[in-house]
Amino acid sequence: MSQQLKQEIDRRRTFAIISHPDAGKTTLTEKLLLFGGAIRDAGTVKAKKTGKFATSDWMDIEKQRGISVTSSVMQFDYDGKRVNILDTPGHQDFSEDTYRTLMAVDSAVMIIDVAKGIEAQTIKLFKVCRMRGIPIFTFINKMDRQGKEPLELMEELEEVLGIESYAMNWPIGMGKEFLGIYDRYNNRVEPFRSETGRFMELDEDGQLIGDHPMKETSYYEQALEDIELLNEAGNDFSAERIANGELTPVFFGSALANFGVETFLETYLQFAPPPQGRVTQDEEVVNPVEEPFSGFVFKIQANMNPAHRDRIAFLRIVTGKFERGMNVTLARTGKSFKVAQSTQFLADDRETVAEAVAGDIIGLYDVGNYQIGDTVTVGKKLQYEALPQFTPELFMKVTAKNVMKSKHFHKGILQLVQEGAIQYYKTLHLEEVILGAVGQLQFEVFEHRMKNEYNVEVRMEPVGTKVARWIENEQDVKESMSGPRSMLVKDRHDNLVFLFENEFATRWFQDKNPDIKLYSLL
Ligand code: G4P
Repeated sequence: MSQQLKQEIDRRRTFAIISHPDAGKTTLTEKLLLFGGAIRDAGTVKAKKTGKFATSDWMDIEKQRGISVTSSVMQFDYDGKRVNILDTPGHQDFSEDTYRTLMAVDSAVMIIDVAKGIEAQTIKLFKVCRMRGIPIFTFINKMDRQGKEPLELMEELEEVLGIESYAMNWPIGMGKEFLGIYDRYNNRVEPFRSETGRFMELDEDGQLIGDHPMKETSYYEQALEDIELLNEAGNDFSAERIANGELTPVFFGSALANFGVETFLETYLQFAPPPQGRVTQDEEVVNPVEEPFSGFVFKIQANMNPAHRDRIAFLRIVTGKFERGMNVTLARTGKSFKVAQSTQFLADDRETVAEAVAGDIIGLYDVGNYQIGDTVTVGKKLQYEALPQFTPELFMKVTAKNVMKSKHFHKGILQLVQEGAIQYYKTLHLEEVILGAVGQLQFEVFEHRMKNEYNVEVRMEPVGTKVARWIENEQDVKESMSGPRSMLVKDRHDNLVFLFENEFATRWFQDKNPDIKLYSLL
C-alpha cells in the first residue's frame, strides 16, 4: 500500500454520539459541523429534527426518517483529520439500528445532561460500546444550567457505568454562575462569555496569572479544591487506557452556548483512534491498511428519495480504498458486479464519491442486492463477523388485507427485512409470516411503509408470545414438542426458533425437554 494511502487512512476519525434523548446530541453535532465548515448556519441540523415520537404520529415517523437520511453520516475536515460522524436514531424502539451503527465506528462520544446525569438509554448504548472495547469520550452538557455537582457526576460514571474517568477540564460554577472551565489538560482557563479573550493562562501552581475578578469568587476556589482532590485521589491520565476503552476522558461545556465544544473537538481528535481492524467469521483480524478494498453493510435505507424509490446500503470501509466503477464481490452470494453509483455524505447534501478509504462510510446504490451485515470485497474471500441481532419481544402475525396483493406483500416484507427494519419468522407448514420487533414503533413504521411504498394494506394480529429462543441442537427437536404456548417457527435463515408465551412457558418446556439447548440473542 502506498504511503499516501496509509496517511489518508490514518487521518480518518469515525465516531457516533450516544446519549439519552434531549441530552443535546443534535445541538452538539451541529456545533461540530460548524467548526468543520460542513454547514454554514446554526439551525441547519436542528431544523431537520422533529418531534421525538411523543405520539406515534405518521408525520413524525416520516419526518424522522427524512432527517435520519440526510444526517445519517456527516463528514468534515478539521485540524488535518477527516471526521465521520454517524447518526443514531434517538428512540429506543430503534435500538437495534443504533447497535448496528455502533459496529461501524471506532469511538463514541457520550453526552450527559448535567442535570439528569446518566439516563436509561445512555446505559444501554454504553454497554454496546463497552462490549466492543471502543474508546468513549464523555461530554457533560448544559453547564449553563444548574445541575448535579461535578464530583457527583464523576462518581455516577464509575458507579452506574463502571468506567473509570479522567476530567480533562472542570467547571467553575454552573448555571447562572457558570464562569468557565478550568482546562487541566491544556493548562488554561476558558472563561464563559468573557470579553477578555478565549483563554487565560495558568502559572506553575495552576493558578490564574495576574488579577482577575474570577479569582475572587467562591466558584473558582471550589474548582481548585475539587481539582486538588482529583489530582490526589482521582485516576491518572493515560492515553493507552483511553484507547482501550478503560478510561473515559470527561469534558464539561455547553453545546447550545457553543462553549467548550472546540476544545473538546481538538482534544478528542488527538486521542480518538484512527480506523481499527475488524474480525472475520474465522476470527481473524483484518487490518485497515491491508489491500484491497473490503467493507461491510451496517445499514440500509430505502426510498431516500421518494421520486426515485432508491435504496442505499451504508458500507463501512474496513480495508484499502474504494473507487467508483470498481468490480466488487458480495461474499454471501459470491456474485461480482461493478459499483457504478455510490455516494458519500455531507451535512447538506449527498454527493457522488469517486474514492474513499478505510474508516469512511459510503452509500451504495442498491436495487435489492445487499442485506444488513453483508461483506463486500475486491478479490479476497472473507466475511466479517455477523452484526448483533436482538431477541425480539413482540410478535405479530401479518397478512395482506387483499390476497390479490400477495406478490407486493412478499416483496415489501423481504425488502424491509433485508433493511433490518423488522425481523422475519414463518410457521413451519403454512409458512404464515410472523414479524418480530424490539419496539412497538417498528410495527407502526412497517405498516405505514407497506402501505406507502408497496401499496399493500396489512392486517396484524398479535401472537401471544413474548420469548424467542434459538436451539443449539436442532436435530433433536421434534414438532410434537411445540404447542399453543411454545410455537415452533423458522427465522429468515431457516433456523428453528421456539416462540414461548412467557418465561413460565419457557421454563415448563425446559423441564419437560431438558436435552434441548435453548439460547437467546443479544
Ligand atoms: P437530542 O438531539 O439529544 O435529543 O437533544 P437536542 O440537541 O435536541 O437538545 C435538547 C434540548 O436541549 C433542546 O432544547 C436544546 O436547545 C437544549 N440544549 C442542548 N444543549 C444545551 C446546552 O448546552 N444548554 C442548554 N441550556 N440547553 C441545551 P429544546 O427546548 O427541546 O429545543 P429548542 O426549542 O431549543 O430547539
